Amino acid sequence: MPETSATSFFITTPIYYVTAAPHIGSSYTTTAADVLARWHRHRGENVYFLTGTDEHGQKVMRTAEKNGKSPQEFVDGLVESEWKPAWRLLDIEYDRFIRTTDEDHVRQVQEFWQRLYDAGHVYEGEYSGNYCVDCEEFKSDDDLDAEGNCLVHERPAEHFTEKNYFFRLSEFGDRLLALYDEVPDFIAPTASRNEIINYVKSGLNDLSISRSSFDWGIKVPWDETQVLYVWIDALLNYSSAAQIYDDPGEFAEVWPPTHLMSRDILRFHSVIWPAMLMAAGIEPPRRVYVHGYLLVGGKKMAKSNATAIHPREIVDHFGADAYRYYFMKAIPFGSDASFSWEHLHAVYTDELANNLGNLASRVAAMIGKYFDGVLPAPGPLTDADGGIADLLTSTARAADVAINGLQIHEAVTATHDFVTAVNGYITEQAPWKVAKEDTPIAKERLATILYTCAEALRAIAVLHSPVMPTAARRLWDSLGAAEKLGPLEEQLISSAAEWGRLPAGATITKGEVLFPRVEMDAEEGA
Ligand code: MSP
Repeated sequence: MPETSATSFFITTPIYYVTAAPHIGSSYTTTAADVLARWHRHRGENVYFLTGTDEHGQKVMRTAEKNGKSPQEFVDGLVESEWKPAWRLLDIEYDRFIRTTDEDHVRQVQEFWQRLYDAGHVYEGEYSGNYCVDCEEFKSDDDLDAEGNCLVHERPAEHFTEKNYFFRLSEFGDRLLALYDEVPDFIAPTASRNEIINYVKSGLNDLSISRSSFDWGIKVPWDETQVLYVWIDALLNYSSAAQIYDDPGEFAEVWPPTHLMSRDILRFHSVIWPAMLMAAGIEPPRRVYVHGYLLVGGKKMAKSNATAIHPREIVDHFGADAYRYYFMKAIPFGSDASFSWEHLHAVYTDELANNLGNLASRVAAMIGKYFDGVLPAPGPLTDADGGIADLLTSTARAADVAINGLQIHEAVTATHDFVTAVNGYITEQAPWKVAKEDTPIAKERLATILYTCAEALRAIAVLHSPVMPTAARRLWDSLGAAEKLGPLEEQLISSAAEWGRLPAGATITKGEVLFPRVEMDAEEGA
């Protein structure tokens, strides 16, 4: 462990349109990126985690107008009052929150397109066709229904004809197909990969990269009467943050990035974006991973959807750790799922309150009662004790392998199953019965059982820490591990499985309940 030899990891979320507050759909991608970033930090890698907001274009401009504000005033307000606080609420630890109105991004976008223009990748032409402002996307006839409505938003696409600049995207088809071939997991899961291969094989059109009918965007550097198309500005956020076209310096090591998203924006990331980078002579992304949609009434939850749920509604009842745990474990990362309060409540009660929470409090209570809160040294290990140590090794390995494949739910499930096994071990070993036998052998056996449990909890704290950072830290502290082994954040996944790290003599305290019971309220959902 780890399975890969990579020593750096650059993970991104899409930069979200600032038209409303975040909801649990946008938070889903951000939470997953944070869990991956934290896991890789626990491998001792050089990690860079980027998220942010997409602030230009007609969609944001029109929403600002509807709210009676200038676009800049509107986005400034929402970023500070909604987006950044939501990520703080969810314990998201990004390295940078990039905004497409940031000065360094604007400058690098202009430099990038000026270079492509100078190198002959851009030409002037006339665009005549349909555009969906909600998607911020040019639509072919296949993307519209018989009435001319966008298939995604079920609203009419707008027809326009204007002088635009075009990127010679059509010239990159063969190189893109070669990339998908050479790096088989460049696009995952497989269904998404196949869809894009077929799409590229059917032939690419050149891409209109500018607009002249409005001005909320980055000016085309060689023609200030036009602004750059919002997508070819937004995609460059990834390279702007890494200063990759400028002077990457320390960022050279973390490039290329892994991009997370749902399938709505896959073509932009797996076709247009790598082609832009190829044109500029920059290494394309490492991988583009598509997770599923959170659905409401069978449709993708969206900001324009009145039923969008704000993360706060859930965190207020269950806390940020449970929020993160639920979305990362209960939904296979790659499948669509409908959110349900009942399911969340059941998972919380069974897996967090009853399984993990109970394990932690039982073990601390017994060490308190039988050993005055001081971790005893274990005696010789029986098969049952050794079985827990072996299971820990295979659990940590399975979880780490799952993370490499971006199968976050499998990693969390592996640790959860280990918790279940430790609870089963306690039931079988019945330390409360052993405690009743007042002999030195029984006392030693009791010490071994409780040591085994505490040591398992030490490892569980490390393995769960990327998913539930606050609860894991409380568990870590209650085991006296911070004092003996240093901060939880500095623990390596590879060391989680090393049996016997928690030294005898550690002070075990029964802190507050990790996951207090939550009563269901039929009215509110929870
Ligand atoms: N601004 C563009 C992205 C530019 S990236 C260079 C955009 N923004 S968005 O606000 O619409 O965000 C779309 C992304 O948010 C999805 O690809 C996905 O990552 C996340 N999600 C938004 N709604 C979601 C669900 N209902 N379910 C799962 N993920 C969702 O597109």
